[in-house]
Amino acid sequence: MNDPWKGNIMNITRTTSKQKEKLEVFIERSGFFKQPLFEEHPEGYYALDLDGRYVKVNKVCEEYTEYTKEELYQLTFEDLLLDGKEKITSAFKKIVQGDIQKYECTIKTKNHQILELEVTNLPIIVDDEVIGVYGTAKDVTQFNQQQALREENEKLHHSLVEHSPDGIIITQSDVLVYANKEASILLGATSKEAVIGNHIYELFPKERGEMLVKYLENAEKGLPSSLHEEKLIQMDGTKIDVEMKIIPTIFKGEKASYFIIRDITEKKLAHEVMINSEKLSVAGQLAAGIAHEIRNPITAIKGFLQLMEGGNLYKQEYFPVISAEINRIELILSELLALAKPQLNNFKHKNIISILQHIVALTQSQAILHNIRISTEFHIKQGIVFCDENKLKQVFINFIKNAIEAMKDGGTITVKAKQVEEHIVVEVIDEGKGIPKEVLDKIGTPFFTTKENGTGLGVMVSYEIIKHHKGEVKIDSDSRGTSITIKLPTSKR
Ligand SMILES: Nc1ncnc2c1ncn2[C@@H]1O[C@H](COP(=O)(O)OP(=O)(O)O)[C@@H](O)[C@H]1O
Ligand SMILES: [Mg+2]
Repeated sequence: MNDPWKGNIMNITRTTSKQKEKLEVFIERSGFFKQPLFEEHPEGYYALDLDGRYVKVNKVCEEYTEYTKEELYQLTFEDLLLDGKEKITSAFKKIVQGDIQKYECTIKTKNHQILELEVTNLPIIVDDEVIGVYGTAKDVTQFNQQQALREENEKLHHSLVEHSPDGIIITQSDVLVYANKEASILLGATSKEAVIGNHIYELFPKERGEMLVKYLENAEKGLPSSLHEEKLIQMDGTKIDVEMKIIPTIFKGEKASYFIIRDITEKKLAHEVMINSEKLSVAGQLAAGIAHEIRNPITAIKGFLQLMEGGNLYKQEYFPVISAEINRIELILSELLALAKPQLNNFKHKNIISILQHIVALTQSQAILHNIRISTEFHIKQGIVFCDENKLKQVFINFIKNAIEAMKDGGTITVKAKQVEEHIVVEVIDEGKGIPKEVLDKIGTPFFTTKENGTGLGVMVSYEIIKHHKGEVKIDSDSRGTSITIKLPTSKR
């Protein structure tokens, strides 16, 4: 194989002895091949004659090929090639014709290692005649491997994103440049292409625009958003509940925002089911109590009836007792009726101040009987709440009733109302005996009462009603009295 007359090159070029001599002289005289720069260059430097045979190589060529210089001078570049001989031979032909050629090739080293080299070859021209070739070779094996790895990673990442169960959208300058399959499903689009090119602001309600600008500005600065709930507008205008996070990213070399969007319609439904089952558990708790509470008076009534029936006894004194028992059943039933879930069509935008004025007037006469005055402190003239008016009235009556019942020695009950940010805050403050800790812990459980004729339903029913109105109840109490705070969201009409 070391016979220059046997290689492929022989068929295309042939170094004449004159050219060979010229090349030797050139190499000998040219400072370039003698400089340390040539020998110590971190890349392979070499010269070939027109047969492709090595006539001068530096150290790195030895390192790359694992042949000594002497061995290399017996070889042509073709001898080292692993494959692609045809392509490279034709490139060599072009160099010999005066061209510069750059290409990658794969070689096999003396110890059968495989190397990928990036090669640049130039003709050596003396007296207008090409007499040889010189060039550089750079080992790009690792780089290529890393590149392959990078490409594989990218592919993997792409397929992860593509098949992610979350919707993924990438935007640049507020325009959708990428959407995965799930995102196009979430948006109710027929294809990903139908989504790309859309403006991101079109996907969310107008009132969220300002927030979105802030999120995108933060993403631009490299700050991810928190996971938060949004309404996503589908292609046909339907709004769906989603959870979303925006992360800064780079897409095709440019800054971009990466949206992770998750459908939470089902989660919301599940949450509602949970709330409903919680209600069921209240109902379950109630059922046993109701049976018990109503059975007692009924047993008493039945007893009297049997007495009268059996003994043919007719006693006038029995009637007030029977009547009282029936009243008790009625009382319990009427409190329980208030518990029925408020019907949404009963919800109206109402001024809570008018409601409170009405309730104070209603309970005032009852209070006076107990030497109690009800005073009002309204810091607002109007506070509109979206509510079931009768249910809210029930709540205030319950709390004022409890206040009256706690103030055996008379005093003042103060009803306050004020606006605190997005909420109306109503307080019912009494000067009663207060609620001991052990009672406070049990307050609101069905049928828990410390009163002889109490039903133990007032606070529980009130809690439920306020919950249906998306409000909150807080009880503060000490020996000087009790204060009930009811917080209700202001209507956004
Ligand atoms: N303002 C208050 N002051 C003192 N105790 C209170 C007050 N409000 C409620 N309580 C306590 O909570 C219990 C439960 O109240 P509630 O549910 O209205 O039932 P009831 O009034 O029928 O007893 C009462 O029995 C009482 O011990
Ligand atoms: Mg009560």
